[in-house]
Amino acid sequence: MEEHITALLDDMEAGAAEITGVRGPGRPDGTGTLLKEVARIRGRPLFYPYIGSGRGRGALVELADGSVKWDFITGIGTNFFGHGDRRMREVALRAALSDVPIQGHLQPNREYAEFLTALSGVAPGRCVHAWPSLSGSMANENALKIIRQKKHPAWRILRFSDAFAGRSAALSEITDNDLNKKGQPDLGQAVHIPFYDPEETWSTARTLDEIQAALRRHPGECAALHVELIQGEGGFREAPREFFSAVFELCLREGLAVWVDEIQTFGRTGEFFALERMGLAELADVVTVGKMLCGSAVLFSPEYNPEPGLISGTFAGYTVGLALGADVIQRLSDEGHVGAAGKIRILEKALTEILGQMRDGGRIRDFTAVGCMAALTPNRSNLDAVKDLIRRLFDAGLCVYYAGHREPYRLRMLLPGGCLGPEDLSEPFDILNRELAV
Ligand SMILES: Cc1ncc(COP(=O)(O)O)c(C=O)c1O
Repeated sequence: MEEHITALLDDMEAGAAEITGVRGPGRPDGTGTLLKEVARIRGRPLFYPYIGSGRGRGALVELADGSVKWDFITGIGTNFFGHGDRRMREVALRAALSDVPIQGHLQPNREYAEFLTALSGVAPGRCVHAWPSLSGSMANENALKIIRQKKHPAWRILRFSDAFAGRSAALSEITDNDLNKKGQPDLGQAVHIPFYDPEETWSTARTLDEIQAALRRHPGECAALHVELIQGEGGFREAPREFFSAVFELCLREGLAVWVDEIQTFGRTGEFFALERMGLAELADVVTVGKMLCGSAVLFSPEYNPEPGLISGTFAGYTVGLALGADVIQRLSDEGHVGAAGKIRILEKALTEILGQMRDGGRIRDFTAVGCMAALTPNRSNLDAVKDLIRRLFDAGLCVYYAGHREPYRLRMLLPGGCLGPEDLSEPFDILNRELAV
């Protein structure tokens, strides 16, 4: 078996060796028909005509039409180690060859235990317990139920402007995006709290006042505050540590759970958790993770340990996903990605320099770069202009996406920091600069 695995991995690597840079489409292999079929069956086309060929090398992905593009969005933050990564393929291959393809809470295998052990080894602050699940939304659904059980009969959730929590029926209400909830009932689960506004000197005080006003308006009914430390979907908005610490301390004093949604930020900001980067780990009661882990989980403190039967479900994770999740955590530290002098911080520095030059040269209005999360505001920032820019970038060989719920919309990147160094940034940023100049 070992020889076969090595031969397969060698084969895969040899096949990807010709992927060395951006390339235009060149394979009239019916991709157009496939895309049309996908559009017909879904009832709408894909955002851009992306059907992967199944091959790639590092941050470069090959599409089924033979084109090669820089993947700076990684399926909205999933494949942190990029494409064709030998170790990921090996872990996936071994897991795929084991007994069962998918595991549940009643039938966990070694991979389930290893995923939980890896996660608990890096658990932030008091959140020493963890339950795995398949999607970020499911981890957040579990968080919601755990919190409500603990805080019963309180049930409302404070959430920030531009928050994103997921697209399930309950989470769509907590998410602050009208598109997510058009035609859905408003059951009053979410209580709106303004997020930090860097333009307002009194922003923190205003948020604290609004929290207190919400508690007065709904006495005994507010269970938790849901928070992303860097708002992803909402536009890559940040706030200083002092804002979060004041808000979290107020919530804890008032008996609310602090529910930190790290589904997008986990492993990406230069530490395992953005909570650690900001020195806030001790203040979280419940934390959720997903995306780059190829699965998801809710972490919680002993106080929040739910009664049996509250959270479970048939599926806990695909065997491949659980094995990869454990290995991603291992690699983040073994390969020096996290930490103050880690590779993610080095990439962040390079991104900050490049984006700073673009802003100073008037190419863009502003930018955010934290770890391998980056966003920029183009000079033309209405939704149509930003989508048009993203589609032109795609045609030119760079995959990115957008963020925000109103103008100014931003172009965002969730870079595959696990396989990308500052030396790789010149070609993709040349493409970006060229298209911004059109
Ligand atoms: C902060 C945050 N929470 C929750 C989710 C939902 O995760 P999923 O799409 O895996 O259900 C996302 C996904 O983008 C997210 O960014």
